[in-house]
Amino acid sequence: MSSSAKAIALARKLDVEWVRQQFPSLHQLVNGQPAVFFDSPGGTQVPQRVIDAIAGYLSTSNANSGGAFATSQRTDQMIADARAAMADFFNCASDEVVFGANMTTLTFALSRAIGRELKSGDELLVSCLDHDANVSPWVCLEERGVKVRTADVTPGDCTLDMFDLSAKIRRNTRLVAIGWAANAVGTINDVHEIVRLAHAAGSMAFLDAVHYAPHGPIDVRAVDCDFLACSSYKFFGPHLGILFGKREQLRRLRPYKLRACTENLPDRWETGTQNHECLAGLIAAIEYIADVGRHHGPEVKTRREAILAAYEVFQQHERQLAGQLINGLLAIPGLTFYGIKDAAKFDQRTPTVAIRMEGYTPRELASHLGERGIFTWDGNYYAIDLAERLGVQSSGGMLRIGLAHYNTAKEVERLLGELRGLAK
Ligand SMILES: Cc1ncc(COP(=O)(O)O)c(C=O)c1O
Repeated sequence: MSSSAKAIALARKLDVEWVRQQFPSLHQLVNGQPAVFFDSPGGTQVPQRVIDAIAGYLSTSNANSGGAFATSQRTDQMIADARAAMADFFNCASDEVVFGANMTTLTFALSRAIGRELKSGDELLVSCLDHDANVSPWVCLEERGVKVRTADVTPGDCTLDMFDLSAKIRRNTRLVAIGWAANAVGTINDVHEIVRLAHAAGSMAFLDAVHYAPHGPIDVRAVDCDFLACSSYKFFGPHLGILFGKREQLRRLRPYKLRACTENLPDRWETGTQNHECLAGLIAAIEYIADVGRHHGPEVKTRREAILAAYEVFQQHERQLAGQLINGLLAIPGLTFYGIKDAAKFDQRTPTVAIRMEGYTPRELASHLGERGIFTWDGNYYAIDLAERLGVQSSGGMLRIGLAHYNTAKEVERLLGELRGLAK
């Protein structure tokens, strides 16, 4: 992003009213109270234009790809447009973008392909902070004689133990698979350094950007990762997975594929017919993000610049809300907070926080809030190793409060008021 675009975006506060008008689901009532969506790490809401794009595709362009007739040709163009939109989102080339059902499915496909070139004695590195979708697909390769090591966390603030991580990257490490941000506690990892360490040891680097994508800009060229996966239902789009792979890696590896599927990139990585209507929705989700950038910095020129400008205002707003939420939570008696709480380090976390409260299970807290229209998650959210490491796995996990840019200070205050009321 040019420094002028950054300055424009930074000079403006997020226009939350404008944002909220675009999301129809935000305006519903639950038991007579306005719904508060603090469930975004499990999936964000979608703007009206995403809903319209899905319906629009099905009304006017519904067909399989590659045919010699209008609806199929429109479908081919739409798929190309979706790839171009994701290329702007990731800062990569269109043929480095692979679509699939969800992040988990794409990661298993990649792990099977990588597994074909591994041999006994090779090692993979995962982390204890991660969602299981970035653990099990790699652990499955142990059946090939591969060893999977796990980088530890510092339990005090739930940050990755970088000493442990770097010590576990060895000369026989073939892949380092790490989350860009932790879906359970919000920690943002130093992925630039992790990829650097992986490459210095001759290893590939895979990043799970599912939790990071709604909160921070992705630049796969700057990070230099070999692969990165995310899911559009976590960044205001429909239920789809998207994989970035460096062109040379996508060419070199051998995915399991049908004979009928070409060897062209990225076709050889895409199995079966894609979810066309959701790809149409994905374009609209990227355009929504870009429009946030254009709304706040009309001078931005390209879609990529507009996307980066949007993240500037998202981050400014989210950090302010995170500060209000975390300060409020820390003042509640009997509350245990998991993760980074030092305001000076808020650039190292997303606005996703996890807590427990004395006298209540996380499920009881989530139910109490849910009855009052406040949506939060309880449990381990598939971050199984972290829940075990923090000693909460067998007692219901944690209550996760996950903010998105469409949330407001008033909503945070409502949640804090409810929790204060429960404190004993
Ligand atoms: C950090 C993280 N990684 C991976 C996943 C799995 O994504 P998907 O549901 O698209 O397979 C999730 C879903 O919650 C997640 O939060």
